[in-house]
Amino acid sequence: MDKLIIANWKAAPATLEEARDLARKTVHIDVGDTKIVICPPMPYLEEISSELSGSQLILGAQDIAPGSERGQTGEETGEMLSGLGVQYVIIGHSERRWKLGESDEIVKQKLISALAAGMTPVVCLGEKTREAGWEDFLRVQTKSALSSLDQTELNKCVIAYEPVWAISTNPGAQADNPESAVAAVKIILKEISVHPKILYGGSVNPENAREFLSNQVFDGVLVGGASLDADAFSKIISVAKEQ
Ligand code: PGA
Repeated sequence: MDKLIIANWKAAPATLEEARDLARKTVHIDVGDTKIVICPPMPYLEEISSELSGSQLILGAQDIAPGSERGQTGEETGEMLSGLGVQYVIIGHSERRWKLGESDEIVKQKLISALAAGMTPVVCLGEKTREAGWEDFLRVQTKSALSSLDQTELNKCVIAYEPVWAISTNPGAQADNPESAVAAVKIILKEISVHPKILYGGSVNPENAREFLSNQVFDGVLVGGASLDADAFSKIISVAKEQ
């Protein structure tokens, strides 16, 4: 099955020049039939959009405004993003939920904005810890983000299951094991009763990518840190091509 791999560059590389260099190296990777989405920081979108043009790589964004009106200082609307060629947008990443206080309600509004602009939303879900009650937390988070959507819209979404404690920017992080990640995905699917694409995210690297990509529950992976190294990212893509 053709896998989907989304690169979340987060707030990196530090300069436009380095971002351009990374895009040029990434464009040269032989991606085969895998679908690769690159999500650079907002200020680099236009430049990276032209670097990716003519390649198989797809442009994504890391966030979207929760509406289309003008009174949203500092935001980028769906219309602006799609005007730059953005086709996918990450929504509700844990770093925005936990560090910036993004609520379930805002996540839902952003999801509606992305769908209205014709983009594919990549909705991030994941518990903060594995302490007692984590399953209920995941159920509520899933329901809050997705319950307003009908089945056709839900099927247009991609869901990224990213346990917060496994994301490499958190202290002591290491990837979840596939069995427990699958158990979490089952909780999510039970809430929505449709089967959108499901990605695993959280410290995915060339060494552990096969564990997730060979599991049929996952349609791909969302990669943070390892996507900033073109060689490491290329190795993850090679594993995806073998599936
Ligand atoms: P990581 O990031 O691969 O560096 O853990 C994943 C993410 O937060 O999207």
